[in-house]
Amino acid sequence: MSEFKTIIEPFKIKMVEQINVTSKEERLDFLKQAHYNPFLLNSDKVMIDFLTDSGTSAMSANQWAGIMQGDESYAGASSWHHMRDTIYDLTGHEYILPTHQGRAAERILYGYLGGKGKTFISNTHFDTTRANIEFSGAEAIDIVIEEGKAPKTFHPFKGNIDTKKLEDLIIEKGAENIGGVILTVTNNSGGGQPVSMENAKDVAAICKKYNVRYFLDCCRVAENAYFIKHREKGYETSTYKEIAQELFALVDGSIMSAKKDALVNMGGFLSLRDEELASACKNLLIITEGFATYGGLSGRDMEALAIGLKEVFEPDYLHYRIRSTAFLGEKLKEMGVPLVWPIGGHAVYIDAKELYPHIPVHEYPGQALVCELYLKGGIRTVEIGSVMFGKYDEEGKLIPSPMELVRLAIPRRVYTQSHIEYVIEVFEKIMEDRKNAKGLKIIEEPKFLRHFTSKFVRVA
Ligand code: F0G
Repeated sequence: MSEFKTIIEPFKIKMVEQINVTSKEERLDFLKQAHYNPFLLNSDKVMIDFLTDSGTSAMSANQWAGIMQGDESYAGASSWHHMRDTIYDLTGHEYILPTHQGRAAERILYGYLGGKGKTFISNTHFDTTRANIEFSGAEAIDIVIEEGKAPKTFHPFKGNIDTKKLEDLIIEKGAENIGGVILTVTNNSGGGQPVSMENAKDVAAICKKYNVRYFLDCCRVAENAYFIKHREKGYETSTYKEIAQELFALVDGSIMSAKKDALVNMGGFLSLRDEELASACKNLLIITEGFATYGGLSGRDMEALAIGLKEVFEPDYLHYRIRSTAFLGEKLKEMGVPLVWPIGGHAVYIDAKELYPHIPVHEYPGQALVCELYLKGGIRTVEIGSVMFGKYDEEGKLIPSPMELVRLAIPRRVYTQSHIEYVIEVFEKIMEDRKNAKGLKIIEEPKFLRHFTSKFVRVA
């Protein structure tokens, strides 16, 4: 590792993509047309796109070379073998099913194991995970540790599961009714916070004791491995890949949205140890995704995925990745922006409830910040609060989410230091003008995953 403080991007740029620079007036127009929901904006109207780190990575020259060598055979393509061998090497799970992205694997696995009367337990279910589980008729319960719900409390592994609650819940619901325990690494919806190896092992012991299935939602497993190496005793000399392998060794299977830590724009997989379960899932895969040696993927996608899943564990890359995310977070913190602390792996999460105390939760302070960031700087972000997770009670009153966060998710290998400096400057304006931010009201919403398509108006 370098003796210098400045961490350079460990890559050179060979191809560029233009950013359209827009004015404040133009952005107000665009945002009105998008009904104050930046998900509905065209991407050419966005200057810095922090909507997601999913599928937005820049691929390497090696991955692009792999694309040209993708084997597009329907069955038994060499690219499939490359992908399967790479995943097997990492997970040690015998049965590997390719899918077009994470949620396709979720639908297959949780749809099969779920249904009425079943319960899934996780540190925090990601929105598509929860939606797939609930759509099957099952329930999804989040039991992250208390520190994980307190944005400012320092804890090195705020993504950990509350193991006491886990055991109590298994007993209360009956082990036979537990569809599975899902450990999400890193814990995306809980602030991108890591899970410790110790916690992953404790959960494994409980699942074993009650004979409950245990899965890893591993889309950011390399980032989680970085935190284990640098924060947990006993892992100082392990490689990132060895740490990830140790996590996979604990579980019955995993689901990966390869659009994150496999550094590709599309792809995913499901890995399992149990032959019977794998066979049932394979049938569903063939019916809905594609034959078992490609899922929903092209040969070229599988080739790029296999290469990306190896590149992501390179120490210089991971160091740059985690430290550059932390750099943005640390600068914002110095400025007094309330945020989830410590900074997670793939994103900085702003605590909008504290930033805008004058906006009540039913007027969605997170969405207000999302709109302000776009208006002031052309920055697109996403609300992870009551727009995403809010529910209604029988009288139609909002049951808010425990936190009102806004996520600045950083695409991998895409933006440079000066883009980040610009974002920091935009936040200076956000802070100056914080008292004038306005809440929003939902005027149209779908039943599931409402943050994608809801329409809003500004509260006067
Ligand atoms: N699990 C986690 C923890 C995720 O973060 C995601 C996606 C999925 C599952 C679903 O995977 O998108 O490939 O179907 N997260 C993206 C995000 C969408 O922006 O955080 P997918």
